[in-house]
Amino acid sequence: APYYAAAIIFGYLLGSIPFGLLFTKMAGLGDIRNVGSGNIGATNVLRTGNRWVALATLIADGGKGAAAVLIARYFAGDTMAVLAGTAAFVGHIFPVWLRFQGGKGVATFLGLTLALSFPIGLAACATWLLTAAIFRFSSLAALVAAALAPVYFWLDDQWLVIPFSVFFAVLIFIRHKDNIRRLLAGEEPRIGAAKKQAG
Ligand code: G3P
Repeated sequence: APYYAAAIIFGYLLGSIPFGLLFTKMAGLGDIRNVGSGNIGATNVLRTGNRWVALATLIADGGKGAAAVLIARYFAGDTMAVLAGTAAFVGHIFPVWLRFQGGKGVATFLGLTLALSFPIGLAACATWLLTAAIFRFSSLAALVAAALAPVYFWLDDQWLVIPFSVFFAVLIFIRHKDNIRRLLAGEEPRIGAAKKQAG
């Protein structure tokens, strides 16, 4: 029991670090929550026009998910690794520091998936990239990648991870409620179009 608690608390605290918010503040770009979608993720940081800060946010938000998995696996094994990664994902979306108003979890999901299983993480990243290349919507790419990840784990017989990856997909869909509404209404801004909107 103490191992479970330690893995979950450690993963949550790591995941709850809002890198997008910190990096944009450090770069003098103001409060990212007042830009574009208001989200603290790399996609919205890109709407500030600063690609390097967006890339740093992507790497740091993905890296914290991967780090939670790898560190927990090193000390406590595979079950604790998936628990710590899940806690990091939840921490990113519901950080105590931001009154539980965090991000949408996509970069953290990709990072922790790469650490759980590198080939499946690559497949999820490739799914994101391919969908984004075709349709130019970051949100749609995230939804397709999140929905297919459980299928990839299932095809690879990774039964322990399947329920967790279903949980990631469900939470990512819930967090993209406004994006889904905009996609259906034809109002979602495409990658590269710095259109302002709220929600
Ligand atoms: O990673 C979040 C992305 O899928 C959508 O971000 O800012 O367009 O709502 P955003």
